Amino acid sequence: SRAIKIAPSILAADFANFGAECRAVEDQGADWIHVDVMDGHFVTNITFGPATCAAIRPHVRGVMDVHLMIAPVDPYIEGFAKAGADIITAHMEAGPHVHRTLQAIRATGAKAGLALNPGTGLDGVENLLDLLDLVCVMTVNPGFGGQAFIDMSDKVRRLRALIGPRPIHIEIDGGMTPDTAPLMARAGADVLVAGSAVFKGGSVVDPTPYGTNIRAI
Ligand code: DX5
Ligand code: ZN
Repeated sequence: SRAIKIAPSILAADFANFGAECRAVEDQGADWIHVDVMDGHFVTNITFGPATCAAIRPHVRGVMDVHLMIAPVDPYIEGFAKAGADIITAHMEAGPHVHRTLQAIRATGAKAGLALNPGTGLDGVENLLDLLDLVCVMTVNPGFGGQAFIDMSDKVRRLRALIGPRPIHIEIDGGMTPDTAPLMARAGADVLVAGSAVFKGGSVVDPTPYGTNIRAI
């Protein structure tokens, strides 16, 4: 069976210890580190920018998966690429020129991702398949961790069919727990983002709770 990747989101981690938190979750088997960038405009929350990503980079051995919940996106792509992002994901809803945004991401050498809010359909995706390395299916409305899972199984199954044999990862983002994760794995997901389920209200420097959660997921 396909090995599901786990991408802990540092939105739920200790903001005063990102380096230690990233090392701890990677030591416990995390495949990617999911970095939630929020601008207080596209979503009603503000997290951090390229400088923080650059500070985190040396503490991430694996993939740094940067989720841009910002609008506009294009002026910031270069900065996140320079900060060391391996994947840069923009929202379909962030503006009218998503094709150009994905081209700009690819031009930096980073992999290009497209995030779809729960209310956004797949119709735009079919014209972008050659520009995509990842599609992030939001299973919460973006802006906050710890929200309730919105079941997008049907969208994931249709997306999997649309992608076909292309090397495009399906990433699920929001509300992943040991109960909801299997649903998304069965629907065809490749990568599961998990914030609160992994970090559980504080640091994971103590690996015990994390280890339990990550293996369950
Ligand atoms: C929400 C973020 C998600 C969130 C996931 O806008 O994009 O990555 O941090 O957190 P949990 O797993 O707690 O829903
Ligand atoms: Zn995210």
